[in-house]
This record gives sequence, C-alpha cells and structure tokens, in this order.
Amino acid sequence: MPAEKTKKTNVCSICHLSNTASQVVVSRGNPLARLMIIGEAPGAKEDALGAPFVGRSGKLLDFLLEEVGINSKKAVFVCNAIKCRPPNNRRPSQKELSYSLPWLHQQIELVDPWIIILAGSTAVQTLLGVKEPITTLRGNWHHWEGRSTMPIFHPAFLLRNPTKLKGGPTSLTKGDLLKVKNRLDKITTAQSMQELIVDIGCKS
Ligand code: URA
Repeated sequence: MPAEKTKKTNVCSICHLSNTASQVVVSRGNPLARLMIIGEAPGAKEDALGAPFVGRSGKLLDFLLEEVGINSKKAVFVCNAIKCRPPNNRRPSQKELSYSLPWLHQQIELVDPWIIILAGSTAVQTLLGVKEPITTLRGNWHHWEGRSTMPIFHPAFLLRNPTKLKGGPTSLTKGDLLKVKNRLDKITTAQSMQELIVDIGCKS
C-alpha cells in the first residue's frame, strides 16, 4: 500500500468520508490566536493542500478580515466543522457532523479562543444547535459555553452574490467582522489593564 494511503487512513477513520478524501484537513493559522473561524467542510483545493479555506472562499474571507484590520495569518485560527471533504462538495450529513463534533470541541478547548466566527449555517447549526436561517442569526452575538460567537454569511455565498451595494451580503459581512474586531480590541485592552493592575499591585 502506498505511504500516502497508509497515512490517510491511519489519521482518521471516524466516518466513511476518509475513504474518498485525500487527507484530513485539520486547521491553519495561529493556534494561540484569540479568534477562531469555523467553516463547513474542506473543498477540492483544501483537500489537495491539506489546509482549510485556501480556495476562492478563503481568499475572500482573508480579504474581508484584512479590510477590518484583522491579520488573517497571525490573528486567526481556522478550521471546519468537518475535517474530510465530502464527495462532490455535498453538504455533510447530520451523522457525519455528529461524528466530528467531539474533535471540533477539542480544537476549541485547546485553542481557547475569546471569539468564534461561525461561517455559514452548517457551522452555526453544528456548534449552537439552532436551526434559524443565517439571515436572522448573522450579525448578532450568540453565547456558547462562555464564549462569544458571531455567525456570518459563508464566503461562498458572498461569491455567488457579489454585489458591492450597501446592505448587500458583502457589506453586511464587513459590518459583522467589524463587530468582531471591536470586541477583540475591547477584550485585549481589558486584559492589558488587568495585567497592569496585577503588576502594579505586586510591586507596591
Ligand atoms: N468552505 C468551507 O466551509 N471550508 C473550507 O475550508 C473551504 C470552503
């Protein structure tokens, strides 16, 4: 058996998706980041390169993050609800999502982000367990296990609806990301203040 095949099947056998995927796509970005982004599942490019959001959707996501002042390489940890590409990019089934949910929970626990961006309805439903449409959920904070989460439109949806008009999906998403950036800045400032108080307290 070729080495690549052995590696692939050894890494994950939780569900049958590993039989058709080239490899398990775990994450990209900074594991120490305070911001985590969760998408749906790897696509063809992600499956080939072994990293999430590296195709057209990912490029748009990175562009929008940079537009609001979030460094898309250093300030984020990116992963997906499901780690193996579903055949023909179909939506993962509930069963497949439930198999990989413990892995997602473990990633969240290890990275320990302050804020989680949920890109698209699959990520929202998987983590929050809510079924409302993304149009009503996006742009509002939802709390999960003591963390702030922000649902946004999936970047693939923005690519299919490319209007630049104010009030269109892209401009709404920019607004949602700006809310994330502002909250991140606030938490960072509060954290620095607290550290300073502890520091001064220790020295006096
Ligand atoms: N879409 C996703 O949800 N995740 C990826 O990694 C790529 C496209």
